Amino acid sequence: MSDLSEDKIQQAIANPQNMGEMSDADSVGTVGSPECGDMLRMWLKFSEKDGKKIIDKASFQSFGCQTAIAVASMATEMLKGKTVEEARELNSTELSEPLGPLPPTKIHCGQMVEGALKEALEQDQKEKADSPVTAAPANETLLGNMNQPGPAKKGKLKVIKLEK
Ligand code: FES
Repeated sequence: MSDLSEDKIQQAIANPQNMGEMSDADSVGTVGSPECGDMLRMWLKFSEKDGKKIIDKASFQSFGCQTAIAVASMATEMLKGKTVEEARELNSTELSEPLGPLPPTKIHCGQMVEGALKEALEQDQKEKADSPVTAAPANETLLGNMNQPGPAKKGKLKVIKLEK
């Protein structure tokens, strides 16, 4: 990793933004990486502005490496005020841009953040179809998910969605 990226990651994890569960979230997305066994969950809260649905706030929880935490911290800041359509277009490179280019071994860390975001946006769509809104059950924690046997621990080099 370049010294520049490393410095920025260290700065980001020294004071991570928007870390923790969001009790009043409208949607939540969880992904896991079978490659490294890490997991990341993102919560989104929406509001409306000028007739468009925007992300009011975003938070995350990660049992993952420092790079994933740094990217998620930056991304959840970046997402505030974005419309759902804009958020859907963001890829992992854009989400991790403030940190500089990630080295090849850390690219999947950014993809985890993108995956959790996309999953949360997808869940929101599903919930709209099924209403009522069902964010992650309050008693379900990321740690609880991690301890469950399942597909998240198998396979390789792929970010996968996890069942709620
Ligand atoms: Fe797996 Fe970073 S090493 S998320």
